[in-house]
This record gives sequence, C-alpha cells and structure tokens, in this order.
Amino acid sequence: MAIKIALLGLGTVGSGVLKIIKNNQKKIRQTSGEEIIIEKALVRNPEKHRNLASEVMLTTNFDSILQDPEIKIVVELIGGLHPAKEYITAAINAGKNVVTANKDLMATFGSELINLAASKKCDLMYDASVAGGIPILRTLATSYSSDIISEIQGIINGTTNYILSQMGEKGLNYEEALKNAQELGFAEADPTNDVTGKDAAYKIVILSKFAFGTKISIDDFTIQGINNLKDFDIKQAQKLGYVIKLIGIAKNINGKLFVEVAPCLLPGNAIMAHIKNELNALQIKSQSLGTAVFTGPGAGSPATANSVMSDVITETKNVVKNTTGQPFSNFSHVMQLTSSEDVKYSYYLSFEAEETLFDLSKLLSNLEIPVREIKQVQSRIVVVTENISRQQLQDLAIQDQYLKASYKILQ
Ligand code: HSE
Repeated sequence: MAIKIALLGLGTVGSGVLKIIKNNQKKIRQTSGEEIIIEKALVRNPEKHRNLASEVMLTTNFDSILQDPEIKIVVELIGGLHPAKEYITAAINAGKNVVTANKDLMATFGSELINLAASKKCDLMYDASVAGGIPILRTLATSYSSDIISEIQGIINGTTNYILSQMGEKGLNYEEALKNAQELGFAEADPTNDVTGKDAAYKIVILSKFAFGTKISIDDFTIQGINNLKDFDIKQAQKLGYVIKLIGIAKNINGKLFVEVAPCLLPGNAIMAHIKNELNALQIKSQSLGTAVFTGPGAGSPATANSVMSDVITETKNVVKNTTGQPFSNFSHVMQLTSSEDVKYSYYLSFEAEETLFDLSKLLSNLEIPVREIKQVQSRIVVVTENISRQQLQDLAIQDQYLKASYKILQ
C-alpha cells in the first residue's frame, strides 16, 4: 500500500522532507511498512520552485489537496499562525491526519486543534516544533510516561545560540552573526521572534504541556531575548567563569510552575555551556531518571525534516492499523504559576558606575541582597549575588536606576 501525503510549503524544512523521502525510500518502506509518496506540494510561487517540479506536483490551490481523498497526511510547514491554522483545521475537518513543525501555532491554538483532531479521529503530531531534530516531544510522551519531571532547562533556539557562540568565540558582531544564521536557514523568515525570545517561549509552552501536563500561554511568563545583551556583559560573564545562553526554564517549585525565557549564566564546566551554534539541548531532571541531557541540531533543513518524517511514519502506521485519533501527549495536570516570592536564584547584575561602590553596597544590604562579588570594571559595577527572590530583584530595579542588566546564574 502507498500512503500519499501533501506538503504545505517547500522552504527549508519542506525541501528537506522531499530529499529524505527521495533518498531514503528503501529504509522508509521497511520502517513504516509502506511506500510514502508526496502527492502534492502547496507553494505560493511555483516559479520559485521550478527545479523541484520534476519531483513533486506543485500547486497553489489548497482545495485540490483538501478534496483529494487519496491524501491521508497533510504536512504543514509554512509556519506562522495564519493561514496555517485555517489549513490545518480544514484538513482535519476533511478527515486528514496532520504533521506540523509550527510552534507558534501549537503554543497558541494547540488545545483547540488537539481537541478537533481527537473529535475527528485524526492524528496531529508536532515533534519538529520543539528543538528541531531532537526527538524531545516523543521522548517526553513515551520514555517519561511514568516519570515525574521537576525541571527542564533548555537551549531551544538555534539562531540565538548560534549568534551567542559566534559573538563569544569568533568575535563577530551581533548583526554579522544574525546574518549568517539567516543564510544558514536557522532563523525564522522574520528573525524578530528568535532574538526577542518569543520563539523559545512558544517552545517552552509546548514543553510545559508535555513535561508537566500544564497548559500555559506565552502571556503567563517573562520573556527576555538576546537583542539587548551587551558585549560587555558577555565578556564579564566569561571573566567570571560563565557562559551566557538563552535558556527556557520550566520548573516545579514547591508544587507551582515557574516558567521563563531569558539569557542566563551557566558555569563554564556545565554540559549546557558547551552546546554551541545551532545545537539545542534540554536538561531534564526527574524522579526516576535523575538528570538527563538531550542534545542535537535545533534548527536547519535535514534535522528538522527528520523529526517531521518521524511523525509522518508514526501516522502512516496508525493510518494502516486504523488507530489514528490518539493525542500526541495525554498528560494533563493543573498547576498554579509561581509568584515573585517563590523563585530564588543567584544573579549577575551590571550597573552603570554613576554611584559609588559604597552606596550600592549599602542599598544591596538594605534590601537584604547577599553579595558574593562586587567590582568596578571601566564604567560599570558588576555584582554577583547569592540566592535572592525575584521580588528582591524587582525592588532593586525600582530603587536603583543604574541597574542595566540582570541575568540568572544557573547551577
Ligand atoms: N528559528 C528556529 C531556531 C528554528 O532558530 O531555533 C527551529 O525552531
């Protein structure tokens, strides 16, 4: 039997899927038990994809996919919220199974689409939406199905990790590094979501559902990107023995869920500090497994396409066995979110040296902020604190206008 699929979009990931199906046919037939054929690919501008016209039928007409009863799986790779949501909704309503790599969509409208898929007995899988090629969602849904997770710390945006690595090690400036990330196909079409942390925030929303069973939205937590990160702070962090990475955190703190995306300092000898360029990594702490780290390429064509194919093959087997309609993850658990008093970390703080070390030390002492290190470097004062609450940090920011940057120090 042959399973026919349609691709929506033939960009970085779509062309990667095409290549894998063409080059790895024999293995795909063995592992899925079927031949997988790309019947059609929806593109905006067929002229742009002329070189692929001999491999796949190009169409600009979504209805021709929707109305083709032979197409069992629709693979959405156009990204963004609209019209991706409308396409997926229509595909599921037409009884088609869906694979998507769209984190924006699954983080925003995931519940609605998951419920729709279940009501229509269709599969909806999205392993490629988080951490590109690392099969993390399937791992959480299967290998962790009896384990209790207490914390996920992730480098889950390849573009920003690439930029920080290139700035920290090769001395490139921010603009050069971002341009390279775009040329290498890591960045979103508009890289704003990458550099402002929003892309990582969408991914931590999806991860929170799989790891903690808890539905949250990107409006529920603080998101800080790397776009305001100063070269000075990257260098100072290095001098103190740390590496700055954009980290997504989801952590159970006394039964409440703490979620955040922000640049953080990692000790130079931590495994996560050595994850460079477009590589992603997830450090998961859990009751039975202890600490495990999953790493691999988090962006780019073949790696992300591989995760898409893993979903396509899983759905293919379900179609053949007539077992479609099970949710990707059925873990559900309501958790309250933490408040500013619940969350305690040690911080790297960077102040403009418009005040004296003496005055700053006095203010820190008044706010009961214990200091591990304080020093003046050029026109800045750099402070490393012991554990303080978010509330103390917020009070400090209100009372000291010279505080210019604060980054958590992770252990
Ligand atoms: N722009 C994303 C990243 C692509 O850089 O991680 C993979 O989601």
